[in-house]
Amino acid sequence: MKTKLIRVRPDVPDINKLSQAAKIIKKGGLVAFPTETVYGLGANALNEKALRKIFWAKGRPADNPLIVHISRFRDIRLITNYLPVGAKELMKRFWPGPLTLVLPRHPRVPGIVSAGLNTVAVRMPDHPVARGLIRASKLPIAAPSANLSGKPSPTLASHVLKDLAGKIDAVLDGGKCDVGVESTVLDLTGETPLVLRPGGVTLEQLKEVLSKVSIDPAFETGSAPKAPGMKYTHYAPNGDLILVSGEDEAVQQGIIRLSQDYGQKNLSIAILSAEEHLFKYKQEAKHQLLMSLGPAKSPEVAANRLYDALRQCDQQKISVILCEAYPKTGIGMALMNRLEKAALEVINV
Ligand code: TXA
Ligand code: MG
Repeated sequence: MKTKLIRVRPDVPDINKLSQAAKIIKKGGLVAFPTETVYGLGANALNEKALRKIFWAKGRPADNPLIVHISRFRDIRLITNYLPVGAKELMKRFWPGPLTLVLPRHPRVPGIVSAGLNTVAVRMPDHPVARGLIRASKLPIAAPSANLSGKPSPTLASHVLKDLAGKIDAVLDGGKCDVGVESTVLDLTGETPLVLRPGGVTLEQLKEVLSKVSIDPAFETGSAPKAPGMKYTHYAPNGDLILVSGEDEAVQQGIIRLSQDYGQKNLSIAILSAEEHLFKYKQEAKHQLLMSLGPAKSPEVAANRLYDALRQCDQQKISVILCEAYPKTGIGMALMNRLEKAALEVINV
């Protein structure tokens, strides 16, 4: 199948182009589209056959459930018939935006969406193209990130094509995604709201609305996580990523030393660093590729650039990626979660 590339203005997408893409969704096809977090691979959330194609195209394990995307508040009724305590406040405060809520699943939503669970994940994206596509198709749209399973999520249409060209019907190209890491997944079906995956909405922000919120201990301890998707190696580039954490100066010295060690073995090396440290690495470290993840104090810039940086490493056939760690506060929690999952090793210096 030839994958159609449909270019749209991200701010005011052409309604004719959205309708063209919506027609594909209505017919049971697959359309990748930009959201504020990452590109999603969309299908009619109520059509089981279309949903099966998502799992096939991504090579996604059947036990990893999908997120359903809606564009109007009242459409939540299509997805669940019970809103747990706190749900309304969270929706009011964070939708549209990068917060996914896990709720009881309405019998109308096919079981395959949730990989057989009796819950369902739902969010309202904050991107004119995503919202426009959902509205034009008049359907809830199930969409995982539009990458091959196990690869870094796509933040550009070119990333989607690299992974899925020939396997999906179309890509709506609306440029670069703003947030760059996926949504926060919050489970509201238990006694206490539980963060299953840190993401675009921070724990600090959730605490402004919720009196109690916990974090799934699994993503700290490595035990079985409650979000099925969190147990897979994810976000991983082809090269070995080594994450170096500690005091600033020690981290830089550590990376310089590692780069020299690996350099002696003739391995191609990339360094992902804060803007401020580029100069030092340029002078003292061994590397084929040196990339800035933005100012050291701006984890949101690093989050925005991370997946593209990892994909560039693949493109340049890098075998070792040395990366500085970030504090786990604010969006830094999501950033570090993705880095730790992508990493072969975390070295504390
Ligand atoms: O930002 C995002 O969330 C992007 C964009 C496209 O919206 N989507 C995304 O989807 O990241 P995906 O499929 O790559 O990740 C969904 C995560 C997985 O970890 C999955 O296990 C979890 O959400 N999840 C989905 N439904 C769930 C459920 N009913 N219970 C627990 N976890 C669920
Ligand atoms: Mg994903």
